[in-house]
Amino acid sequence: MRGYLLTVCLSVWMDSAHGIGVQLIPQYPVVNQSVTLSVTGVTGTIREFTWYKGSVAAAPNQIFNVTPSLNSTNGTQYFPQAKGFRNGSLQISGLVPSDRGNYVVQVQTGSVTQVTVFLPVYEPVTSSVISTNNKEPQENGKVTLTCSTNNAEKILWGKNGVSLPPGLILSADNKTLTFSSVSRSDTGQYRCEASNVASKIISDPYTLTVNYGPDNLKIISMNARKPLSLECSSDSFPSPTYGWKINGTISGI
Ligand SMILES: *[C@@H]1O[C@H](CO)[C@@H](O)[C@H](O)[C@H]1NC(C)=O
Ligand SMILES: *[C@@H]1O[C@H](CO)[C@@H](O)[C@H](O)[C@H]1NC(C)=O
Ligand SMILES: *[C@@H]1O[C@H](CO)[C@@H](O)[C@H](O)[C@H]1NC(C)=O
Ligand SMILES: *[C@@H]1O[C@H](CO)[C@@H](O)[C@H](O)[C@H]1NC(C)=O
Ligand SMILES: *[C@@H]1O[C@H](CO)[C@@H](O)[C@H](O)[C@H]1NC(C)=O
Ligand SMILES: *[C@@H]1O[C@H](CO)[C@@H](O)[C@H](O)[C@H]1NC(C)=O
Repeated sequence: MRGYLLTVCLSVWMDSAHGIGVQLIPQYPVVNQSVTLSVTGVTGTIREFTWYKGSVAAAPNQIFNVTPSLNSTNGTQYFPQAKGFRNGSLQISGLVPSDRGNYVVQVQTGSVTQVTVFLPVYEPVTSSVISTNNKEPQENGKVTLTCSTNNAEKILWGKNGVSLPPGLILSADNKTLTFSSVSRSDTGQYRCEASNVASKIISDPYTLTVNYGPDNLKIISMNARKPLSLECSSDSFPSPTYGWKINGTISGI
């Protein structure tokens, strides 16, 4: 009988101690935007709650203390971007990097419980732009494409709307894409996508055009009968210009 009562008391205490949590809305808060540190799992009516900036529920850390529908007091850590809701939640608007850190909320229903939460503040990825060391590359030359961006945790490259073909060299941070010996088949539209958990930016396309040739030069007889007509063709970019020689002398045909 005693053991049974003890178990019941223990489980009630466990519920109130472990029942509350704080959910960040949105999950990945971004500079200049707002976040709600939403208190979840409260059973019963909130009589009073207090938010602290820091890891310890101590008076010098207090942001505010609220007795819903009665009164509230601002603590020494109060700042005007902070707002309390009757359900115990804290909203911070116009986030700045220094808002990042631990917060403690203490909630009084029947008993007093508290929970600590870490608030991350993410910097959004800024514009991603592709630049190159070699604007008019010749085939077999070396070309690097660089994706310029800030605050990215991840950079992905694409060619003509799909992921890169194998065999290209990416730097460890993926910012630089190197063609050690560029080929005519590397011609195409490249983009880089820079992201972190909170944001993502895709660059404008960069068109890589590889100059090559002329090679694979051919002379084809177009007509076996008179008048004789010969056509010269080759693979080249930009398109080649053609000239003819007869017996080693430039012809003026
Ligand atoms: C945040 O707002 C300030 C002031 O409006 C602005 O200068 C800054 O660029 C903004 N930062 C971001 C990451 O949007
Ligand atoms: C508390 O109230 C705020 C503002 O109305 C809301 O955004 C938040 O989701 C509420 N939290 C819970 C747990 O209901
Ligand atoms: C808030 O109101 C309650 C009830 O009126 C009162 O007992 C308490 O002292 C007040 N707290 C502050 C900080 O004014
Ligand atoms: C806390 O500070 C804000 C901004 O100065 C003010 O509007 C509010 O009335 C203050 N609250 C209390 C209880 O003093
Ligand atoms: C680099 O790109 C590869 C795919 O090419 C990707 O799997 C990897 O996550 C990227 N790493 C970084 C740090 O962006
Ligand atoms: C080119 O050389 C051949 C052989 O020497 C000769 O028969 C022909 O007349 C020459 N043609 C011209 C246009 O010089």
